[in-house]
Amino acid sequence: MPGYLSGMTSLPFEVRESPLAGKGAFASRAIARGERIIEYTGERITHAQADLRYDDDSMDEHHTFLFTVSSRTVIDATYEGNESRYINHSCEPNCETEIDRGRVFIFALRDIAAGEELAYDYAYQRSGDETEKEERQYRCLCRSASCRGSIMEPKSAFELRQRAAAKTRTTRARRTLSSSGKSRAR
Ligand SMILES: C[S@@+](CC[C@H](N)C(=O)[O-])C[C@H]1O[C@@H](n2cnc3c(N)ncnc32)[C@H](O)[C@@H]1O
Ligand SMILES: [Zn+2]
Repeated sequence: MPGYLSGMTSLPFEVRESPLAGKGAFASRAIARGERIIEYTGERITHAQADLRYDDDSMDEHHTFLFTVSSRTVIDATYEGNESRYINHSCEPNCETEIDRGRVFIFALRDIAAGEELAYDYAYQRSGDETEKEERQYRCLCRSASCRGSIMEPKSAFELRQRAAAKTRTTRARRTLSSSGKSRAR
């Protein structure tokens, strides 16, 4: 069984100061594209519990170790977390996350050379009414050529989601109307 699952320490990265933000994770050997690097572990809580624990408004810069797994569950890596919590965000990431039956794993998106900082796209979900203060709190310092300036998802991703949700609402409304029509006819 690989070390990161058995609890042994055979991580392909080390944690140290990052030029991006605080501490970061740096490849300690070459990592092949597709390699599963580590599981994002921590205490599993609800969104309501996370909201009680962390008050985003009071932070000058947003900083938590939360990972949203689903509409029910958030992993808080402040508690029971491992080194995965130090992997920073980049708008040109070399890693990606995958959720498998409620567990979160971090994979290499491409071949990564020893010494490179590991990063995935946090793409924190927008609510669409972010204030200037919030934009500042979530600003991105990745310095990649295609940096979008934010560790939140691109505005276009939010707009797409809105359009898809509106479409679903319209379809549901139509179904409701047609099924109530049918029952009236019976
Ligand atoms: C899961 S922690 C990552 C580890 C963090 N660097 C540390 O030392 O604790 C997530 C936080 O790191 C910071 N961060 C990560 N990537 C960033 C980036 N590209 N630009 C700005 N801040 C970043 C943000 O404060 C974010 O909320
Ligand atoms: Zn960026």
